[in-house]
Parts: sequence; C-alpha cells; structure tokens
Amino acid sequence: MLISADEAVARLDRGDLVALPTETVYGLAGLALSPETVKKIFALKGRSSTNPLIIHLADLKSAEKLAVFNNLARQVCKVFWPGPLTIVLTKKTCVPNEITGGGNTVAIRSPLHPLFREILKTLGKPLAAPSANPSNRTSPTQASHIKELFGSDCPPTVDGGNCKFGLESTVLDLSAGKPRILRYGPITPEEIENVLSIPVQTPLPERLTNNQPSKSPGSEKLHYAPRTPFFLHQTIEEIRLNRPSSEDLLLLPQKSDLPKDMDWLSSRTLYFSFHGKPEEIAFNLYKTLIQADKRNAQRLLALLPNTNTELCLAIRDRMTRACNRNGSIAKN
Ligand code: TXA
Ligand code: MG
Repeated sequence: MLISADEAVARLDRGDLVALPTETVYGLAGLALSPETVKKIFALKGRSSTNPLIIHLADLKSAEKLAVFNNLARQVCKVFWPGPLTIVLTKKTCVPNEITGGGNTVAIRSPLHPLFREILKTLGKPLAAPSANPSNRTSPTQASHIKELFGSDCPPTVDGGNCKFGLESTVLDLSAGKPRILRYGPITPEEIENVLSIPVQTPLPERLTNNQPSKSPGSEKLHYAPRTPFFLHQTIEEIRLNRPSSEDLLLLPQKSDLPKDMDWLSSRTLYFSFHGKPEEIAFNLYKTLIQADKRNAQRLLALLPNTNTELCLAIRDRMTRACNRNGSIAKN
C-alpha cells in the first residue's frame, strides 16, 4: 500500500513500521528509541538481533544527543551530511541496546532525500531504518521492489521514485580514534581522507579470502543475493568457459561488453549501464538483479566492472557478496 508522507508520520508516531525512500536505497523505518518498534523491524526483516541498525536523524545537533562526538566525526558530518555517509560512534545511554545489537557503539546518518527529511522534521524523533528488504536479499531502489521482496508482508510505503545512488551508505567507524571504513558506499575513502587529512583504513576489496568475522555484522559474506544461482566473473572469457546457454541470463556492465560471437545471447542479456559509467552501474545494480531474478533463468552469469574508480570498490563489493554460488568468483 502506498501512503502519503503525513500518513507515514502518523503511523511512525504510533510505533508502526513504514518503508521510506532515501537517496541510497529504501529504508524500513520505525521509532529508533522504542525497543518495541525496533523489535518489529528485526522480526519483519528476519534479521539477527545482533546486527545493529542505523539511526537516521535530521542534523548534527540531534545526532549529538545520541552519540559521543569527536572532532573527526564533526568534520565529516559538516561536509557529507545530509548524505550517504553513516558514522559509528560510542553510544549515549538514551540509545536502547536493542538497536545497537547489544554493543556500545551506534551507527547514525542524516539522509538527504527530501521526503525522508520532511518526515523526520514533522515527526521530531529519530528513525531506525535498515534497507527495506528481507535479510540478505537485494536492497530496494524503487517503491515497487518492496512489494516484490516482501509480498503479503509488505509494509506501507511512501513512494519517492528511484533512489539517486542505488547503493547503501558508506559506513565509517570513528569510535576508536583511527577512521575505518566498514562498508564501501557512495562516499569514497579518498573523499573522506581529503577532509580528515589522515589515512582511512579500508576493508579488503571484495573480501574474497576472509573467513574472519567482520566488525560490521551486516558486512558478512553472503548478502544482497538474488534467488537465482548467481556466478560472478572477472572477464568475458570466464563467462564463455561457463558455456552460457539460452537458459542462462548474462549480466554485463555495459553494451559493448557482449562480443559479436555471443550476439545470439543478446535477448538473454541485461546491462547495468549503457556506457559503463560507475554512477550509472551503481544506480541500476539492484534494479537489474531484482529484474534478473524474475526471468526464471537457470543461472545468472555476471561480469564485474573493471574500471578502477573508487565507486567501483562499492559496486564490486556488493556484487561479490551477492554471489551465492561457491561464495567466490567463478574460475571457470
Ligand atoms: O544507505 C543506508 O545505509 C540504508 C538506508 C536505508 O539508510 N540503510 C542500510 O541499513 O543499509 P542496513 O541495516 O541494511 O545496513 C547497516 C549496516 C549493517 O552492515 C550493520 O551491520 C552496520 O551498518 N552497522 C549498524 N550499526 C553498527 C555499529 N554500531 N557498528 C558497526 N556496524 C554497524
Ligand atoms: Mg541492508
């Protein structure tokens, strides 16, 4: 059911859940400081209660009421808020343990989407909002995705059109002195270093080798996954070695990635972008995965974008963790 922003405020205020647009992906929102509401979010997503949620607020002033700020945090927030940057800081006691998964840090961000901001301002209370998808599934970047992902459990939704970035916010841990990226996203490590003038630690690109637990529980390996068996490849040659058939679906970064001799697969190919521009790939990534899942293919054979922009770190990270076969890039 689609609802207005005013209706969303009324429902949120009485402790109900509502799906809201943000500039990154749609969020499943509820009152952040209400343990009862936070429990409803975990239940609807089927998410482990130890995987903490992000608190969304209107501005730095409201954020300082919930978290212990330091100078590094103030500097990045002044530049990147409102926007797709989440920071992790030591929590203040008013933040319920339910939302932090029992931990003593809290993740906060001030979103940019005008509808989300309007709702925050009218409501006057912070909102918890994980991505509006059942746990481990692809994040929604348009209102119709939420219905497709949740079916009859779909929460009432405010339609804010397509999400501008299409990838979840960058998560930056500033709780322990040294800045550390916990999740790649639209704000790149370089942009943060330029503001802080000190090095920012980054996770291993693509996390292909790790078996060690992550500091950010939501960054575990399998995530964002389509239901169809999804294989990831570094080159088109690797896809060829996988002997694609007309039962498969190819997912390619751009139009020119389909070689002439594979033209017979053109009706079985979806593209993340026309020219391979990273912003466009990011914008279309989840939309294309959700669309691909509806085609009843035997396998999704996807090619990683090979540009070296920092935004591609986030794209490659999400694609790698969406890979639900063997948990790694297909070798052949
Ligand atoms: O763009 C976004 O961030 C979207 C929109 C809706 O704002 N939200 C989102 O939330 O992606 P979620 O819950 O799907 O992902 C939040 C990530 C998870 O990986 C979680 O483990 C991590 O942030 N996180 C939350 N609180 C944390 C904390 N205190 N310490 C470390 N990681 C934390
Ligand atoms: Mg999520």
